[in-house]
Parts: sequence; structure tokens; C-alpha cells
Amino acid sequence: MKFTLQPVKGKEFINRTELLKEMVEELRDKRSTTGYALYGKRRIGKTSILKEVQRRLDQEEEIVVVYYSVWDLIESTLAEFCHRLSLDIIEAYRPHVGLTYRASELVQTPLSMLRKLLGEAQLTIVYNEIEFLVTRKKDTDGGILLENALNISEKLGKKTDTKCVLLIDEFPSIIDLKSNNVKVGEAVLRKIRTVFEGWEQTTLCISGSIRSTMNLAVLSSSSPFYRQLIVKEIAPLKQEHVTELLTQHLDISQEGIKEVYEFSAGIPFYVQFIGKMLERRDKITLDSIRNVEHEFLTEEGNILFKEEFGSLGPKERLLVLSIAKGYHAPKEMANVVGDKISNINRFLTYLTEKGYVSKEDKGHYVLDDPVFERWLTEILPEADAVDIDI
Ligand SMILES: Nc1ncnc2c1ncn2[C@@H]1O[C@H](COP(=O)(O)OP(=O)(O)O)[C@@H](O)[C@H]1O
Ligand SMILES: [Mg+2]
Repeated sequence: MKFTLQPVKGKEFINRTELLKEMVEELRDKRSTTGYALYGKRRIGKTSILKEVQRRLDQEEEIVVVYYSVWDLIESTLAEFCHRLSLDIIEAYRPHVGLTYRASELVQTPLSMLRKLLGEAQLTIVYNEIEFLVTRKKDTDGGILLENALNISEKLGKKTDTKCVLLIDEFPSIIDLKSNNVKVGEAVLRKIRTVFEGWEQTTLCISGSIRSTMNLAVLSSSSPFYRQLIVKEIAPLKQEHVTELLTQHLDISQEGIKEVYEFSAGIPFYVQFIGKMLERRDKITLDSIRNVEHEFLTEEGNILFKEEFGSLGPKERLLVLSIAKGYHAPKEMANVVGDKISNINRFLTYLTEKGYVSKEDKGHYVLDDPVFERWLTEILPEADAVDIDI
């Protein structure tokens, strides 16, 4: 494999040595149900960490790992969430219970047939769960569905004397789940927390990028998972790891590496992307790297960032732009934008919660993503920046 934009694991996975060691040691311990909450910016490498944890734990006989991403849901309904979770857990247990059929095929099978296929005593739990999924009515209470899904791993874990590690990626998006067109996310989070407290054979690792919703779920003292999970913030790669990643596939000088490191601020997605573009060049010089970075900003930047920027409110866009232009204090921003400081502070709080802005010091705000910042100052078409309807 060469440079990639997909999550990485195994040989392609760089660094995070201590975190991985700690997580794997804790999670493989059958007496522990301690779990983890990973948070960090988009593109920083959270999914890769979960996949690498899964790869390492897959080598343990008595540990069953389930990777589940809330972003894979299509309808974002509670029923879909529960259905998929149930199937994924059963699927992960297949080798442990000696199930030859895929869970997704079994739910398509008529009940009469199912009874024959899953006749053995060893498969009674699987039969019951699949029957529940197949026969459930459209109006089955969401709470019952959820409780059922969350208890499958406990039942199968007890039966097979294994521990289940449930990895839920993009966990905060649970907040958007709907049932009969009503948002039920908060109740779902509370329910998961309650069930989690009673688990003996199962533990939970979650990850999330959007700070405000991660707050809602895990980080703030009023959130359901507060102090329930070990929280780890995922940081960018250091220069030595950017070096390792680049020199794996490229013949690149020290000053070239430094250029990519400074451009990417160690965010692995950008390093991989620039690496991928450089792969196609014959000779890599400082000039060619700068050209590639510019090309990245114009072509990819317009795809990646334009929509993101457009999704912000007009005031938020103005503030993001003024920070990019070098105004870091709310007072300066108030002058530039022509608004009251109290308003500026309110919008800065929104931007911080959305993960665009950080407060570095008292009265000093910076943009979180330096590549986005460069795109704002160098590429964003003047017309789009000015054409803001306030
Ligand atoms: N430890 C790592 N080593 C090498 N590349 C990585 C690492 N972590 C992430 N990446 C790369 O960064 C990009 C984003 O990774 P991903 O795990 O999807 O991040 P997130 O889930 O935080 O958005 C991908 O291109 C991936 O290949
Ligand atoms: Mg991810």
C-alpha cells in the first residue's frame, strides 16, 4: 500500500505507540470493563486508532471486537441503529458460536427455514435474536429495541466466555437519531450509559470529532458518560512521525519534510494527501512540494473547505475570516466587523464548539486547522468571501 486517504492499520499505522499499548492492555483484560473516549479534529486519525485497536485485539482468542460507525447509517433512525448493531454483534460472534451463515443473510431467511438452520442448542441465542429482528413490528418500542441490541453481546459473551469490545465511531452523531421523526438521541445516550454500567462482559470505546456534541455526550459534567470512560484527546503527528510516514514511500529531503510538516501541522490526512500527489512526480524538490501544496489548496481545498465554510452563518464566516487575516482578539474583531464585543464573544463560542476555533490564551483566538486557514487567505475567491449577506 502507498499513501492513502482511508483509515490505516498494521504496517501503515504510524506512531500513537503509547496510547495503543495502554488501550490494548486494558481492553484485552477480561476482568476490566473500562472503556475509552477518543476525541479530536476531523482527519486527525481517530478511526485509524479504532481499526488498529481492532486489528490487535482480533489476535486475542477470548476478545470479540465489533467496529460500528454511526456515520454508516443511512436513515439515522433508532430502529436502523439497533438493527445494524444487533447484526454486527452477531456477525462478530460467528466464529465463537460456530455460526456458518452470515447474520445479514439470516435476517432475510423465512422463519421456518431459520429454525432448521439454527437448530443446534449452541445457536439458541442467535436464533432468538434473529427471530426478534425478523418478527418485530413497525411500532415496537424504541427503548425495547435498544435494550435488546445492547444486551446481545452480554448474552453471547457469557455463553462463550469472551469479552466484547464495542467500538462506536462518530458516537456523538447518536444525538441525531430519530424515531417517528422525533429526535430521541439524548434518551438513547442515557440508555446506553445505564446499560453500560451494568455490563460485565462488554465494554465500550467511542470516538467523536465535533466538540459540542462530544461535550454533550462525554466531556461535560452534566453529560451521561462523564467520568465513565477514559478520555484521550488525539493530537497531530510530530515531525518525526511525519518523517516516518513520508520516507516510507518517498525519496524526500529533510527540508522537504519540514515543508510538508509545517503545511500540514502534522494532521495525517494532509500528509497522506500531499504524499499521494508527490508520488506522481519524478523528482521531489522544495519547489515541487510548494507547487503541490498550492495545487492541493486550489483543487482539493475548494472541494473540502468551500462547503464547510458555506455551512457557517454569516457572522461566523466573517469572524473566521478576520482570524485568518490576523485579528485574534475579540476587541479587534469587534472593530473590523463593526459589532459589539458581547456579540463577537457569543459567535466565538459557537465556532469553538463547532471545532473551528480555539482559545489559545485569554482574549486570543486561533483557527484550529492551518490548511483551512491558508485556503481562506490564499484561495477563497474574493467574491465568495465578500458576498456575505448579513
Ligand atoms: N497513525 C497514522 N499513520 C498514518 N496515517 C494516518 C494515521 N492516522 C490517520 N492517518 C491518515 O489520516 C487520514 C485520516 O484518518 P482517519 O483515521 O480517517 O481520521 P479521523 O477518523 O480522525 O477523521 C487518513 O488518510 C489516514 O490514512
Ligand atoms: Mg473517522
